[in-house]
Amino acid sequence: MSFAVSPQPGHASRGNLRIQVTQSQDQWAAAAAEHLACVLRAKPEACIGWPTGSTPLPLYAALRRRAAAGTFDASGSRAAMLDEYVNAPEEFSSYRWLRRQVWAPLGIATVLRITEDGEEFERVLRTWGGCALQLLGLGANGHIAFNEPGAAVDSRTRAVKLTAETAAANAAYWGGRFTPAEAVTMGMATILEASAILLLVRGAAKAGVLRRMLQEPIGPQLPATFLREHKNVTIVADQEAAAEL
Ligand code: GLP
Repeated sequence: MSFAVSPQPGHASRGNLRIQVTQSQDQWAAAAAEHLACVLRAKPEACIGWPTGSTPLPLYAALRRRAAAGTFDASGSRAAMLDEYVNAPEEFSSYRWLRRQVWAPLGIATVLRITEDGEEFERVLRTWGGCALQLLGLGANGHIAFNEPGAAVDSRTRAVKLTAETAAANAAYWGGRFTPAEAVTMGMATILEASAILLLVRGAAKAGVLRRMLQEPIGPQLPATFLREHKNVTIVADQEAAAEL
């Protein structure tokens, strides 16, 4: 399958999926921040789904700077968690990490915490009208949130066991002080119900998996391929991540 996109900075699209390739980290963060600002301008009370991980860090720093400067206001929005470790000490919880990185500095007070009671999480999310924008990172093995390879397209919010690769990647993030074994994740079906999806991809380590997500047959062997079935997905990638496209 061919894919018409140049790794040069710019825009390309395939079906409903748009790819924006940026030149610098600042431009990458600015492009993602602009998507978010656009959604919030149209609907200030929108629910945004927030991922953890190292990929979104430049975006979160840019949002904090803009909020402090008064040029970005997300204080009326609502936040939903994408995933969380099971049985993690509070200091390693995704909830605490997101509160510090994003919600507190941006003045977001209404947060839906994800727990092992996936049905209740989804019930509340539905009463909120779902996520207007779901931000996502891309796992090196093609996972989305903690939907590891093998996850079904109709999966809902649930507890999952992590693969050794994902557990190691998460342990590295915490400098080896904590290694998760299990997590709760929004299901693929839940994620695909968001009105819009912004997939954040950064760095040479993601070049191979980004190419695979766009070229491989859609299926549970690479859950990120399911995003191609969504009607409104934008990928913001830096040149390193777009190198194999
Ligand atoms: C983690 C998280 C995901 C994240 C992904 C990529 O395991 N569960 O939500 O998007 O893996 O992480 P990173 O951005 O650090 O590469």
